[in-house]
Amino acid sequence: MNKKYRKTVIAGNWKMNMTASAVKPFIEELKAELPKTKTCETVLCVPGVIIPAMLRSGKDAKIGVGGQDVSKYEKGAYTGEVSAEMLEDLGVKYCIVGHSERREYHNESDFLVNEKAKALLAHNITPIICVGESLEQREMGLTMDYITYQVKAALSDINEAQVRKCIIAYEPIWAIGTGKTATAEQAQEVCKGIRAILREKYGARLARSVTIQYGGSMNAKNAEELLAQPDIDGGLIGGASLKPKDFAAIVKATAQE
Ligand code: 13P
Repeated sequence: MNKKYRKTVIAGNWKMNMTASAVKPFIEELKAELPKTKTCETVLCVPGVIIPAMLRSGKDAKIGVGGQDVSKYEKGAYTGEVSAEMLEDLGVKYCIVGHSERREYHNESDFLVNEKAKALLAHNITPIICVGESLEQREMGLTMDYITYQVKAALSDINEAQVRKCIIAYEPIWAIGTGKTATAEQAQEVCKGIRAILREKYGARLARSVTIQYGGSMNAKNAEELLAQPDIDGGLIGGASLKPKDFAAIVKATAQE
């Protein structure tokens, strides 16, 4: 498997943090720190109401903008929802789906995650599909069984042309916001397993072209080792994406690949 066939993508997930007025100063600081790289795409997935401010400020710094969630519905009487068409119309290129926080606090099922991914693909937006096991599942030796189930469910009815546009993010739940990162070996093992699932479903050529990220307490210190793994093509970063210096340091770590 060769990394030259796929994009490296470092995506920040701001979760429910920051405000629209904080965007400009943040981007100015980030821009000063970001390395010039042609091999890595830098993305910030921000709350919906912050997207327009991020699109304005981020353009100059070549930051791709992503959402954090989307409705499975096309349009209509769904109070509070934001559609893929609305995101596309703004110029959003990425959107997270199936984050473990949405699965846990909003009872999102694998079936719903699949529907949301399809809604995004229909509007030319790259879904960043999150999968990851709980600590209990890991301790019971069920990690790969569960990840296999999640990946297959999320990609149900997604064809070859569509999967090319998808990013899979492996985020072990026990590593999110805990400061407890998966070791490079643990993260590589699962990301390699995810690529094997893609190979089985779509063939080797396609599997080698899909970007697979690791997420879960990735920071300026551990990014280089994680990103050096053969099947880890980027990161989905929570806490460290709120600090321009730390986030830029993770982008810099990709240049070492
Ligand atoms: P942390 O980097 O804060 O652990 O969050 C990871 C995450 O959930 C990104 O989606």
